[in-house]
Amino acid sequence: MTIPQLRGAALATVALVTIGSMAIPDAAGAAPGNPGAPRYSAGAASVGDPYFPDEGNGGYDVQHYDINFSYDPATRFMAATATITAIATQDLDRFNLDFRGPEISSLTVDGHAHDFIRDGQELVVTPRPKLKTGQAFTVVVRYAGVPGPITDPDGSIEGWVPTDDGAFVVGEPQGTPAWLPTNDHPTDKATFRFTAKVPEGLTAVGNGQLLSEETRDGWTTFTWDSTEPMATYLATITIGTFVVTESTTPSGIPVYVAIDPRQVAGSAAAVAQIPRMVDFFASKFGPYPFASTGAIIDRAPDVGYALETQTKPIFSSPASVGTMAHELAHQWYGDSVSPQRWSDIWLNEGFATYAQWMYTEYNGGASVSQTFNSSSNYGRAASSSFWQIVLADPGPEDMFSSIPYNRGAMTLHALRGKLGDDAFFRILREWAASRRYSHAATADFIALCERESGRNLTAFFDVWLFQKGKPTSW
Ligand code: TRP
Ligand code: ZN
Repeated sequence: MTIPQLRGAALATVALVTIGSMAIPDAAGAAPGNPGAPRYSAGAASVGDPYFPDEGNGGYDVQHYDINFSYDPATRFMAATATITAIATQDLDRFNLDFRGPEISSLTVDGHAHDFIRDGQELVVTPRPKLKTGQAFTVVVRYAGVPGPITDPDGSIEGWVPTDDGAFVVGEPQGTPAWLPTNDHPTDKATFRFTAKVPEGLTAVGNGQLLSEETRDGWTTFTWDSTEPMATYLATITIGTFVVTESTTPSGIPVYVAIDPRQVAGSAAAVAQIPRMVDFFASKFGPYPFASTGAIIDRAPDVGYALETQTKPIFSSPASVGTMAHELAHQWYGDSVSPQRWSDIWLNEGFATYAQWMYTEYNGGASVSQTFNSSSNYGRAASSSFWQIVLADPGPEDMFSSIPYNRGAMTLHALRGKLGDDAFFRILREWAASRRYSHAATADFIALCERESGRNLTAFFDVWLFQKGKPTSW
């Protein structure tokens, strides 16, 4: 996949992590006098993201994940077959997947059964025959047992979270390996298909479009297809008792909304505005990036946050208008354009929060300037601890604190003031268009702003992104 572009500050740490987990190429594999011969080595056990040093792997690029599973909420038992199609990006005699799920009963590569090693979240595979650069290969993993939640550095939970009527499934930043073997980093996107068999009466709701729904012998099987590339952390296949409503936006985008009956009344205003929100953001940010939209509104009190799961944001409690706008705006910024490193999280949260401010203004509420100046934003006293964290590198414990959200949105509003509306919205549209279905780093955003405005913005981004303290001039 793309070679990471790293900021200078992060480079030293990243290099150490990467070297520590990278295998030395096997000297015996090099054929002297035959430079074209394959040089097999192990794929890296990490992509070298310092916030989550075990996340992701090297040596291959996943194209597609297909998972076919049954889940019974009464026993919390899952039986699954995951089929992963990938392309080798180096000559491989070994590679890793990230997996924190239940017991594996078999693993094959291109139909050949293989032993494997599980070491923490690393699933280590030794393919024979070995894989050559550019070669497509298919890994099939069968597993069964009781998947569960994963606890994040900030103490919140994600992964496979059982609920009183099913399971709430969210993966940001590291939860998807709880139930699916993946190359778990936003720099390796792929298409997905989920086939979920659940007791009749329950609904399994996944990203993308519903291909089929079939009931037999007391079980219903749902097949969901994600046709645009997706980061692993945005995957969901949430199970529960849901009221389902299907419609289309005025511009023709299919809308699928699944709501826990207990959350219908509390979410009505937010759900009613989905089509209007999507069309408003499309008018500002460029075309909606996916084939469908919607929402999943569940009841998962232990989770306590919403997530921008691709095509269908998910809510653990009734959805407010503001949070719905935030999660739908993420479809452009976060989902279609994903962070290259988790330290770039403000590119997700600052953008979605600013979009939420814009929607509030559009909807007749506070203007974006009023929100910028409010006491939760620029109105905070300079002595507040809020200002003491660097936006471009908040650390894994503060990646979902108010820093990336509020200071991130303030940064964009300050940028808009400095460059004017024309350049600012051109930049937002170009960011969504040029990085569509991909990933990007803070340095790429700065470069785009300088290119589009023709100005040197070093001092501006220095005070907003790289320095602690409340900016006073920019
Ligand atoms: N990205 C989510 C949002 O902005 C929030 C989120 C995801 C989160 N994972 C989290 C918040 C973990 C706290 C902890 O909607
Ligand atoms: Zn967000």
